[in-house]
Amino acid sequence: MSKLVIASHNPDKVQEIAELLAPHGLSVVSAASLGLPEPEETGATFTENAVLKALAAASVSGLPVLADDSGVAVTALGGQPGIYSARWAGPGKDFSVAMRRVERELGVERELAGAVDRSAAFVSVLCLAWPDGRHETFEGRVEGTLVWPPRGGNGFGYDPMFAPEDRQQTFGEMDPAAKHALSHRARAFAKLLARGFADLR
Ligand code: IMP
Repeated sequence: MSKLVIASHNPDKVQEIAELLAPHGLSVVSAASLGLPEPEETGATFTENAVLKALAAASVSGLPVLADDSGVAVTALGGQPGIYSARWAGPGKDFSVAMRRVERELGVERELAGAVDRSAAFVSVLCLAWPDGRHETFEGRVEGTLVWPPRGGNGFGYDPMFAPEDRQQTFGEMDPAAKHALSHRARAFAKLLARGFADLR
């Protein structure tokens, strides 16, 4: 069985992807455990960044690779932080800092306009790539509402401030199975699964 490299240095994301792939009989290994370098995310879109991460890892490892680029796009902030979602957490990767920044910027918008739209969407683009440069992308998205203060200790990143669809619970309050039932990453995965893994086994 061929190994599939998960091109992420974010252990939470690797864990979620491994859980989503677990029932499909693929052997997965993380880019970090192979010592692969983390490329600079120079793309202007989730898709460009997912493709550049996947191709970089495929060419260095000589193995098929799955990469994910994802983030939260806040309507009232014109889609920010978007591809900068990880970077808003600063060098310490502290997501309480990132969530406070979102809330502060929504507060500025509220002062300017008198009311603020608290809708947002999580977006995930998966890229499956091979060492010869072939690649395919799959996008998933879930709409939701930003709550304040953040709630729940599950998940990662912005999960504690994001209530998906019409739910009262945030992703941070849901158990992993409930998050997987409707998350952006799971929806991108559903498209990947529909493609099948026959050429990866
Ligand atoms: P990157 O794709 O590694 O550049 O970073 C994506 C960033 O978006 C993560 O570090 C999180 O901050 C955020 N993000 C992506 N997916 C999720 C999720 O499922 N829950 C919470 N935050 C997420």
